[in-house]
Amino acid sequence: MPLVPSYIKKLNSYKPGKPIEEVQRELGLDNVIKLASNENPLGASPRALDAIQNAMVDSHRYPDASGYELRKKLSERFNVKIDNVVLGAGSEGIMSTIMRTFLLSDDELISAKNSFIGFRVLAYASGKRIHWVPMKKHRYDLEAMAKEITDYTKIIYIANPDNPMGTYITKKEFDEFYSYVPERVLIILDEAYFEFAHGLEDYPDSMTYRYDNVITLRSFSKAYGLGGIRIGYGFAHDDLIDNLLKVKVPFEPSLLAQVAGLAALDDNDFLSRTLEINNKGMNYLTQELELLKVKHVPSIANFITTIWDSEARATDLTKGLLEKGVIVRQLAAFGWPNYIRISVGLEKENDRFIESLKEIL
Ligand SMILES: Cc1ncc(COP(=O)(O)O)c(C=O)c1O
Repeated sequence: MPLVPSYIKKLNSYKPGKPIEEVQRELGLDNVIKLASNENPLGASPRALDAIQNAMVDSHRYPDASGYELRKKLSERFNVKIDNVVLGAGSEGIMSTIMRTFLLSDDELISAKNSFIGFRVLAYASGKRIHWVPMKKHRYDLEAMAKEITDYTKIIYIANPDNPMGTYITKKEFDEFYSYVPERVLIILDEAYFEFAHGLEDYPDSMTYRYDNVITLRSFSKAYGLGGIRIGYGFAHDDLIDNLLKVKVPFEPSLLAQVAGLAALDDNDFLSRTLEINNKGMNYLTQELELLKVKHVPSIANFITTIWDSEARATDLTKGLLEKGVIVRQLAAFGWPNYIRISVGLEKENDRFIESLKEIL
């Protein structure tokens, strides 16, 4: 018997966007901006930072393993019972717990091909059979996904909005799809970009779908700027949560992550500034890309994906931008080699990206 299962040997680990320090070091540049990982350009929620600072002195203590305070606050905010809430080290932490909790040996998974890499890595690491359904016009093809459901299907994963496309499925599409999904199949609705999409009339806020087999995942990483702290949450039926709580790493999320999440939820000012700057930035980038006749996918998240004629062209542009100190994300690892994703930055960062792009073009 081999020590390492073949599906782990074959696995490509998650490769995040390049860190600023690495680019500074490698290219000898001082002023580098990163528009590559859909982070919050305003930084972290100041209220969360204060709370972290105040709690640091208790770092020798284990956190509350039940995450009571934050789960209670989330339950009140979203009008559910505390028994319907789970916390994790980022929403990916919860995704990982879901895989470990519910998958049996013959179970199968369904998701869109070339969607969020984080899920792809976890899905392959599970060693289960996965049906990857190609996207249609850069959107989840729910009709085709419904056709892939078999007696073995256990989990269907949908990122809404999707990363890296920024597209979304509508209420009507989800309702139609849901009518084809047997109750024994779990649907993970990954709403990491929920706050950005929330205002849209036809966006299916999954809190209105408190079905027994739907797990909603949300994150403090994007709208609250806490990606480095690793704090996310999920909502589901009591029974699913109860089992997730048995399997999750005991003291996840950390003490600092729990207090940060608690404080961030009260940081309305930071949240509105985030949404405002994102809105403005998205409008500006879209308008400028249109003027430059750069093809792109309309996005409702905090990033926008551009389409180029070939992989070589996308590679050259990514490199050219990097040499000018602008880090963007070519999407080869996602399965879109001729696509480049740009996270919405501060006004001056968006400007710098557009000016650099113009110079290169
Ligand atoms: C669709 C999607 N889900 C989940 C995550 C990860 O969120 P977290 O930082 O909460 O683990 C990301 C991050 O890029 C994402 O794009």
